[in-house]
Order: sequence, then C-alpha cells, then structure tokens
Amino acid sequence: MTQSVIESLLTQKIGLDANSIGCNNIQRAIERRMADCAIANITTYLEHLQKSSEEWQALIESIIVPETWFFREQEAFAFLKNYIQSEWFPSQPGRVLRVLSVPCSTGEEAYSIAMSLLEAGLSSTKVQIDAVDISKHCLRVAQRAIYNKNSFRGSNLCFQERYFQTTETGYQLCEQVKSMVNFIHDNLAATSFLAGIQPYDVVFCRNLLIYFDSATKHRTIKVLEKLLTPGGLLSVGHAEAGLLLNTKFIPVRYPGAFAYRKPAVSPFSLQFSSKTVSKNHRASDQEKPIPDKPSSQVTVNIETQNLVKDSQANFLETAKTIADQGKLDEANQLCQNYLSQNPDCAEAYVLLGQVQQAMGQDEHAAQSFRKAIYLQPLHQEALIHLALLRENQGDVDSATLLWRRIQRMQKKV
Ligand SMILES: C[S@@+](CC[C@H](N)C(=O)[O-])C[C@H]1O[C@@H](n2cnc3c(N)ncnc32)[C@H](O)[C@@H]1O
Repeated sequence: MTQSVIESLLTQKIGLDANSIGCNNIQRAIERRMADCAIANITTYLEHLQKSSEEWQALIESIIVPETWFFREQEAFAFLKNYIQSEWFPSQPGRVLRVLSVPCSTGEEAYSIAMSLLEAGLSSTKVQIDAVDISKHCLRVAQRAIYNKNSFRGSNLCFQERYFQTTETGYQLCEQVKSMVNFIHDNLAATSFLAGIQPYDVVFCRNLLIYFDSATKHRTIKVLEKLLTPGGLLSVGHAEAGLLLNTKFIPVRYPGAFAYRKPAVSPFSLQFSSKTVSKNHRASDQEKPIPDKPSSQVTVNIETQNLVKDSQANFLETAKTIADQGKLDEANQLCQNYLSQNPDCAEAYVLLGQVQQAMGQDEHAAQSFRKAIYLQPLHQEALIHLALLRENQGDVDSATLLWRRIQRMQKKV
C-alpha cells in the first residue's frame, strides 16, 4: 500500500511508470534506501521522503536505469554526420549548432554527438552541446570522462584510439571532445524543464520515454517540440518511434536513425490549427483529387449524424492508440477496414496517411491525404500533412502550392 503511494509520487515527480521497470525493482530500491537511512518501517520512510529533497534525490539515484554506451544505435550518429554535411553546411554556414542530449546518463551519448560533429567537419567552436540528466551521480561520472570497457560495445571502435587515452583508471576522453559538452542537472518531467533556454537545432532524447507513464510521454513530446527550432531534428530510441506518430513531427528517411523533423515554419508564417473546415470548395492546384468519393448524397437526421460522429470518434481514438503503441500494421488494417465501411470519412484518411507515412509508404500516405482533401477540400490538417510530406520529399513546387492554398484558407477564416 505505502509502496504504491511512493510509486505514484515517483510518477508525479519524474514521470516514471512503475510497470516499466517492475514493482519488484522499485521495492528493492526502497529497501536499499531504508537500510541506508536505518529506517525499518516503510510508512516512516515515506514520511522521511516527503520531508527531504536529499532523500528524493537518493531514491531517484537508486531507481534510475543509467545503461548507455558510446555510439549506441549508431545509425543516429551516422545520420547526424550526414545531416551536417548535406544540410547544415550549405544552409547555415557560420552559425553555431545547438544540440541537446537528454537524458545523457554518464555522458557517452553527448560525447558521441561531439565526436560525430567533429568527424562531420564542424569546428568545436561552432557547436554548443548541452547534456541533461536527473542523476547527479551520472553527471559526475560524465564530467570526469574516464570510462571502462562497458562503455565501448560493438565492433567499430576506431573512435576509441582517436579520442581516448588509456590510463590506469580507464579510458580518458581527450580535452577537445570533453570541452564541447556542458552538463546540466534537470528533470525532463518537471514543468520548469530548461525554462528560458534558447531552442536547439538537434535534440537526442533516447531511451527515457519508454520509462514514462502515458501522460508524461505525451507531455514530453510537446516539450521537446518547443525546445526545437523550426525544422530542427529529434532523435529517439527505436522503441520510442511509435510515440511520434500522431504528432507534428515528420519522420526522416534514414533507416535506423529514428529521426524526426519539427515542421519548418512555412514560407508564409502560418499559424497552424488542427481545426477542419467544412467541405464546399473544389480541390485545386497541383495536387489533383483522387476520384473515389461516393457519388450519392443522402439526407441524414441529426440523431443519426451524432451517432455517426460518436462511432467515428471512438474509431479514431482506438486507431490512434494502437498506432501510438507502434502497432502500425494493425492501425493500418483498422483504418482500411473502417474506410471500406465509411468511405467518406476524411479524418480516417488523414490518420491512415499518418500511419502509412510512419511505415515509410510515402506515396500511399500522399494518396490518403489527397483523398481526405478531396472529401474536404479545406481540411487543414490533411493539407498541412501533404505539404510537409512533399517538403520532406524535396518536392518544393508542390509544397509551395499547398502552402499557398493553406494561406488563402487562413485569410478567409
Ligand atoms: C537508459 S539511460 C539513457 C541514456 C542515453 N540517452 C542512451 O540512450 O543511451 C536513462 C537515463 O534517464 C535518466 N532519467 C530518468 N528520469 C529522468 C527525468 N525525469 N529527467 C531526466 N533524466 C531522467 C536516468 O538518470 C538515466 O541516466
């Protein structure tokens, strides 16, 4: 009973979902802390915990999972290097690149970012890397920058020779890389997280969302979005990719990188709204409608219309939840089944398009967005998704036409 009170306090404070690490592990962590504090009774321990911020920090230290290593999920770093060379240099020459690694644990991720940026040709003076973690112990290890062989996994370890020196206490990271990272103690689940900080061009947030409860996961994605510059990049862990499905983030095509882009501000500085507008205009511009709209118009009474709206909302909610869980095939099938019964549901086409995009089926996704636009020519969300998809594919002309169309709509509303 008292343990479940502590578990819900942990959820409130640091976003931890007790099931993600197992209640037994939480129990063991509490027992360790009780032994250190010489407290035999868990209710007495809870009272102590509620009075002491030091004890909170100590409990957090004994609960967190600090597992990490250099170049973990290395495609993310290969992608970063590629991004710098193909996009950053041509478009932002001279500007300082701002990168955030949260959570950074003992620093391996942040230092891998630093090494990748040097390898990409960026000078250390043109980079600002902030690395954040809730564990003060991890941050001390990170600042020391001496690692043992556990931090070096896999077969491609050429970087070890280049950037580390073997010492009696372990592998000591060179000063150049060490000096590129600024470590910060903060809590990603806190509302004050990095308050007032300048936005970042790239954010690595890997292998933490999996430990958060559902509400914190969704809130955190919004926080990360705010922390990014328009067009900025977010890299998540492979098990976390499904969480970005129904968000504004656009998947980047780079297998294994699990990278997403925050939409760039459109050339016309639009204020996006997910509000949809009723259909009364024909689709125009370059993106032609897909002609499979049902031809017969049936008059439906208000009650039936409400029932239809209810079942539609339920369907969308279920399909979104399944998609959020990363079950893309299932979500895809659900949308297809629903649409075979309700072929004029624009919202379902938009969701199907998002699922297809997350599955890497860009052209199918484009078709679905276009069907939604055909059904509701002023469907802003569908238009924006299609514009962003075209932008992402490098089809600037189609994207520009779509943005213009969205802008015209905005003026009319
Ligand atoms: C598994 S490590 C991930 C490290 C690295 N990003 C990686 O992928 O290798 C998880 C880290 O999350 C940190 N953490 C847990 N809850 C946090 C929170 N609410 N805010 C910031 N860091 C947190 C832990 O201290 C731990 O170091």
